[in-house]
Formats: sequence, structure tokens, C-alpha cells
Amino acid sequence: MKLLVVGSGGREHAIAKKLLESDRVSQVFVAPGNDGMTLDGLDLVSLGIDEHEALIAFAKKNDIAWTFVGPDDALAAGLVDDFEAAGLKAFGPSKRAAELEWSKDFAKQIMVKYGVPTASYATFSDFEAAKAYIEEQGAPIVVKADGLALGKGVVVAETVEQAVEAAREMLLDNKFGNSGARVVVEEFLAGEEFSLFALVNGDQYYILPTAQDHKRAYDGDKGPNTGGMGAYAPVPHLPQSVIDESVRTIVQPVLEGMIAEDRPYLGVLYAGLILTDKGPKVIEFNARFGDPETQIILPRLTSDFAQNIDDILHKRPTELTWLQGGVTLGVVVASNGYPLDYEKGAVLPAKTEGDIITYYAGAKFGEKGEALLSNGGRVYMLVTTAGDVSAAQKKIYQELSQQDTSGLFYRTDIGSKALGK
Ligand code: AMP
Ligand code: GLY
Repeated sequence: MKLLVVGSGGREHAIAKKLLESDRVSQVFVAPGNDGMTLDGLDLVSLGIDEHEALIAFAKKNDIAWTFVGPDDALAAGLVDDFEAAGLKAFGPSKRAAELEWSKDFAKQIMVKYGVPTASYATFSDFEAAKAYIEEQGAPIVVKADGLALGKGVVVAETVEQAVEAAREMLLDNKFGNSGARVVVEEFLAGEEFSLFALVNGDQYYILPTAQDHKRAYDGDKGPNTGGMGAYAPVPHLPQSVIDESVRTIVQPVLEGMIAEDRPYLGVLYAGLILTDKGPKVIEFNARFGDPETQIILPRLTSDFAQNIDDILHKRPTELTWLQGGVTLGVVVASNGYPLDYEKGAVLPAKTEGDIITYYAGAKFGEKGEALLSNGGRVYMLVTTAGDVSAAQKKIYQELSQQDTSGLFYRTDIGSKALGK
């Protein structure tokens, strides 16, 4: 069968590459993809994620068996609904189900209604009311833009002044446009963060290995929040009992709640969790795979991913199998300046061979078609599997030290938290 993946980042590279490994799959198209993906035999389609009609026409013309939708904005724009209306199968939630991600306020309402543990909160569109609430609650406190903001609409404020300033920027200065027209102000949760992913169709779900992302730009969790600078899986110091509790108290009730709300969930459910001293609590839901978590989870899958997704889409039971033991770790290489303004056009090192995978995100062939050049904030990611976190770090950082990363930067401490550093 032929498949289509929608999106262009490292996440979509990892999804498409894994799908192409299946014996049942002859060709994987990615729309719009990035040039780096072609080095893995993926076929690019020059259509944007917002060109619903053209994507549907492409899928029909090319006998696409089904489409895997990667990015949140495509889901929020109802791409899956439009595919379904055209009689095509797509793996991803409907717009109504994806509201778990595109409205933090909606996600909070669902969590409260179905008893899912999360930080206490209040939602505001009026700045003075938000300010009064922040002053009453005190710091630390967290201020979030209600809508999608590329992972950058969250301010973890250490002081009341910072929190009020963040609310002011969102509500009065329109920093995130419409996404910040409402803000969720919530209790600060202390504890270790981890991500839990499930592949879902209604009440059927499969839990993936846990992962830990590194959202801040610089070493030691300093600097601004980014889309994610590196990750590893599974999280070695997380006991199975915590995962079981997360499934029981979070994943199950949310999926049941979505069915009860007549918004049955299909696709990847991504729970961003914090292990507090009162057990795991939700910091956010996403309606899609994580980037960069996908790039370190999917290499651990030993079953046929295309078969798995095909089964789940058709509501047949499926068997997902995973590498046992060891850790898969990846480091993102980004353009200097990311997540703020950055330069493009740095010449990228050659794609790695052997047991280090290169996944591309912001990468584009030069005008003369020769080398790949940087063309985005996050540019590429190196991923490897080794016996433990320090062995994996060693392999990746040795490789990076030999690469010419002029114009680019990366964190040198991905995974160090697992080592107690
Ligand atoms: P989000 O975009 O909601 O994932 O938030 C970005 C980051 O802000 C998270 O990865 C956490 O590190 C932090 N964060 C969000 N909400 C909270 C909270 N209630 N308590 C502590 N940290 C939080
Ligand atoms: N890695 C964070 C995200 O995908 O939202």
C-alpha cells in the first residue's frame, strides 16, 4: 500500500521512515516534508498542510491507503474531518477531539468533569481579573495562552510580577494573537516531567514507552522554551507503577470522557505529565505525536508500524512490540538564535550511517542541488540506542563533536537528568 504523511519536521521524518520499513508499504509520500527526508527514500509532495482540497485530490489520485497527520495545526483546522468527509481514512483526531490540545480551557473542563488529576486553575479574558487572581494565589504560578502557540505560550512565573506581566502581554498586548485572547492561570506543579503517548481508536488504546523531552533552549534547563531540544526513552527512573497509575487515572478516564462527550478519540494522545508527591498530574494534552519524542520512541518499535496503524484505524486488535532494555536518546541541532530569530543557509554535515540515525526538520537542498542547508529553527536530530543513558550520550556527543555545526547549536546535557545530574 501507499501512504501519505502530513507535516514537515523531524517527527514526520521518523513516522514516514518507520512506515516505509513495512513490507506491506511500497511508497510513503510526505506533504510538504523537507529535502532531508528524500535521503531515506521518502517522496515529497509540494502541498502545504492547509491545502485540504489538494491533499485530498492527491490521496485519491495516488491510491493512498490512509494518511498520517503529524502537526497540531492541521488537526485543529479539521484536516482529518475533511479527509473523512471525502471518504478517505486518516490517522488523527477530528477537530472536535483535537480540542483537547487546541484549547487548554477545554482540556481543563474535561479533566475536571472526568476526575483527571491536574493543576487547579482559572481562565480569564479580562486582564484585571487575571491580575487579581494571580495576586491572590501568589507565586510560583503558571500563565498559559489558551490556544496553540508553538509550545511557547507558557510562562512559569517565579514572581507575581512576572505572572502579571505575562498575562498583560497575552491579554492586552496580543502577544499570541487570538491564541492569547484567553489565558489559563494555573497552580505550579513541582516534580519530574515525562510524556506518555497512546495510540487510540475510541476505547481501544496502546501505551508507548515513556519519554522525557528537554524544552528549554540551553544546558541546565536554562533559556526560553522551545519545541524541544532533545529527548530519551524510556525514562529509566520511572517505576512501572507510575505508568500504570497514569493509565488508570488519566488515559482511561479521558478516553471514556471523550466518548461520553461524543468526541471519540482517534490518533495519538500525548499526555504531558508531572510526577508530583500526590502522583502523576496532567500539565497538558496534545492531540498528536511529540517532536522530538517521536524520533526516540519509534526506533524502539520492533513490530510493523504500518500494520499497527492499519489495524488501529480499522479497530482490529494489534500487537506492538518494543526493544527491551537499553535507552534511545536524541539531540536536536538548531539554528543559532532559535527559538527567536535565526539565520538560515548553514551547510549541514553529511547524513550519519550505521547506528546513529539523522532525522531532518529544517533542511533544504542548496540552489545547485548539492549539500543540505539549514532552513528552519530546529534543523536535524541525531538519535541512537545504547545500553544506558551515558553510553548513548557518549555516542551522540562524539559524533556531534566531529560534525561541523557552524551556525548551529545543541544542548550538551540531553539525558543528564536521568543520571542524577
Ligand atoms: P506546556 O506547553 O503546557 O507543555 O508547558 C511548557 C512547559 O511549562 C512544561 O513542559 C512544563 O515544564 C512547564 N509547565 C507547564 N505547566 C506547568 C505547571 N502547572 N507547573 C509547573 N510547570 C509547568
Ligand atoms: N516535544 C513537545 C511537543 O511536541 O509538544
